[in-house]
Amino acid sequence: MDSPFRADALKGKVALLTGGGSGIGLEISTQFGRHGALVAIMGRRKHVLDSAVSALRSQGVSAIGIVGDVRMKEDAIRAVEETVKHFGRLDILVNAAAGNFLASAEDLSPNGFRTVLDIDSVGTFTMCHAALKYLKQGGPGRDSSSGGLILNISATLHYTASWYQIHVSAAKAAVDSITRSLALEWGTDYDIRVNGVAPGPIEGTLGLSKLLPAEAKGRAKDYMPLFKLGEKWDIAMAALYLASDAGKYVNGMTMIVDGGLWLSRPRH
Ligand code: HXC
Repeated sequence: MDSPFRADALKGKVALLTGGGSGIGLEISTQFGRHGALVAIMGRRKHVLDSAVSALRSQGVSAIGIVGDVRMKEDAIRAVEETVKHFGRLDILVNAAAGNFLASAEDLSPNGFRTVLDIDSVGTFTMCHAALKYLKQGGPGRDSSSGGLILNISATLHYTASWYQIHVSAAKAAVDSITRSLALEWGTDYDIRVNGVAPGPIEGTLGLSKLLPAEAKGRAKDYMPLFKLGEKWDIAMAALYLASDAGKYVNGMTMIVDGGLWLSRPRH
């Protein structure tokens, strides 16, 4: 689908995206690149990054891949440094890396719980912390109305409660809280906007195939009246709005992009 945004909406901005080599992260990388950004994508698997970088470059996007794990502070620092070394600055950090699996609270080990919090919550903070030095620095072309930006990919699971997702729900609740705290502190001190996007079920993602197996999709419509799948594009357009000047007064918000699903109740 064509983008409703101008092709130069992110012209010259440098973006680092964790989890940027696949799924929603790759679509955001692609759309940011198509709208003028230079993109660095970080992930654990080199072959995934390599093919994502080739796909981005084939669309005319300036892209590099950086192998790293957001759970490792040294990897976070190195990813930020490599991005700045290659592109000269850092304007946007997108935290899209996440871990997920279905497990009942009874069967989930404390280490399984901790692992997802380490990736989603601590990993998000670690990346933000590593990036601050450059996000607050400004760069050529950055004026007072366009400070740095952080975008945290969240979820809606924790607005109510979700079966077999105690670990992810807790992790994403922490992510939303991080979004608000950093929006306050870094928005005030450094003019950095910190926002989030909370996707609903998105077609063609690992999250969907893990959480909602194909046979359950048909049944979902019966008990969730508003149920319909979103596209990765929908999330990327929300990210683009928040990252562009269109979103310059938006700070500390996690935008729900789920077609209203989290509100949904069966009809009486
Ligand atoms: C129960 C599990 C488990 C499972 C791992 N564990 N998988 N427990 N059921 N299916 C437990 C292990 O037993 C172990 O605890 C602990 O978790 C760590 O497991 P490791 O395999 O050592 O971890 P690691 O190799 O680091 O893998 C991390 C992972 C993995 C999160 C477990 O699934 C992963 O990295 N996935 C790739 C990313 C991903 O899933 N992306 C989708 C994101 S979608 P013990 O006690 O045995 O040591 C998403 C959507 C959000 O986030 C919501 C949308 C609506």
